[in-house]
Amino acid sequence: MKRIKINDVFNLSPETSITICGWVRSFRANRFIAVNDGSCLSSVQVVIDYEKLDQNIIDQITVGASICVSGVIVESQGRGQKIEISANSVEVIGSANPDEVQKTILQPKKHNLETLREQAHLRFRTNLFGAVFRIRHHMSYAVHKYFNDRGYFYLHSPIITGSDAEGAGEMFKVTTLDPKNTKENGYEKDFFGKETHLTVSGQLEAELAALALGQVYTFGPTFRAENSNTTRHLAEFWMIEPEIAFSDLQDNINLAEDFLKYLVNYALENCMEDLLFLKERDEKEDQQRPKNLRAELNLIDRLNFIVKNDFVKINYTEAVDILMNSKENKKKKFKYLVEWGIDLQSEHEKFLVEKHFKKPVVIYDYPKGVKAFYMRENEDNKTVAAMDVLFPGIGEIVGGSQREERYEVLLKKSKEFNIPEEHIWWYLETRKFGTTPHAGFGLGFERLIMFVTGMQNIRDVIPFPRTPKNAEF
Ligand code: 4AD
Ligand code: MG
Repeated sequence: MKRIKINDVFNLSPETSITICGWVRSFRANRFIAVNDGSCLSSVQVVIDYEKLDQNIIDQITVGASICVSGVIVESQGRGQKIEISANSVEVIGSANPDEVQKTILQPKKHNLETLREQAHLRFRTNLFGAVFRIRHHMSYAVHKYFNDRGYFYLHSPIITGSDAEGAGEMFKVTTLDPKNTKENGYEKDFFGKETHLTVSGQLEAELAALALGQVYTFGPTFRAENSNTTRHLAEFWMIEPEIAFSDLQDNINLAEDFLKYLVNYALENCMEDLLFLKERDEKEDQQRPKNLRAELNLIDRLNFIVKNDFVKINYTEAVDILMNSKENKKKKFKYLVEWGIDLQSEHEKFLVEKHFKKPVVIYDYPKGVKAFYMRENEDNKTVAAMDVLFPGIGEIVGGSQREERYEVLLKKSKEFNIPEEHIWWYLETRKFGTTPHAGFGLGFERLIMFVTGMQNIRDVIPFPRTPKNAEF
């Protein structure tokens, strides 16, 4: 008999004979088994006739066990589901000892997110994480579809690099040397014969490819050893970095807006069952919060809001003016001082997006001192053609820029930033041979998933989070 995914079972008509395989979510009255196979949020109800089944098998139908059921689709007598499966046979593939299940999150009751994180190997079995990781999959696919449909090429940038693209110096060393063996110090003896790190960004490599293939994007893991234990930072996160030749900052801003709207809309069109579940969850969580911190829109409305409204676009100087003249600033409510030249702090971004504009905001033309060496210097000699996209509840979701394409200026900037020429000679060289204006940005994939799912902690939107002092699983 044909094995069917539970997601497809709901589209079949009564009388169809099928086999399904999945995990027991509940078993009640010696008769009704809820089986979930992960293909969708819904479990299917299997009805057994205990008089016909071997008692030994029935005893093994417990929460967490894996089973295969062959039977016939029938219209359901009970409420809550249209159809159910009337079982002819049940095979227990892998049993699950109820006493041990008791100690895990498989036990069907509400578990807090902290406990679920401690059992990240099992949390996929919950409705919540099933929903989150199905959506994460669909968003990955949508990223590739968006770029493929528009003639971009997917570039695999290296994970091990010898350069620090962002100049932040927050990198993980890659070495085969034993730190305990003091005789082994010196990079000559190391695997690559030089200092190497896990990449903080694929951008520099993407630029090389864009200056030949025209439009490329990367989509891969990125590593930052920043010791910020926040709900928005991971040590290992995934980033999408498009890079486009013959394009400027304005094109870049437009691309970021179009791309984000596309992704959010894709979720609305393809993930509604999971989104509705997450919306309800989000509403329940919201009830626990003080009134002034509650969301004005529900999850689905927040997503629709992104798709339907233009992003606000202001330059950095305008943003600082708004902040300086705000009531918050006058009442000294900001922790960090606001003045022209500062790097905007998340409290400032939050104010602009959630209080002042109540919309996604793109801020561009930042002071050159707070941004990376590769960003194109503007005519005023004070600012660079940078842009950040800020989202409600998330803060910075995208960071990008037009790149400095003038060789002399780039060389001067790399020296000012103390970047050794031997680290980036290859990058500088592209500006000697047919240089052209080009631009790109990085979208933090987990921050996107947080926004789409309404999850509040970035650790709950990546299967196995890596954060300071935490690399279990
Ligand atoms: O603003 P960032 O540092 O920009 C770059 O890396 C550029 N090379 C991108 C480019 O122009 N090609 O990072 C881009 C985005 C941020 O806006 C944020 O969404 C995400 O990456 N991000 C992180 N996400 C999770 N954990 C962290 N530690 C992150 N750091 C950055
Ligand atoms: Mg940034």
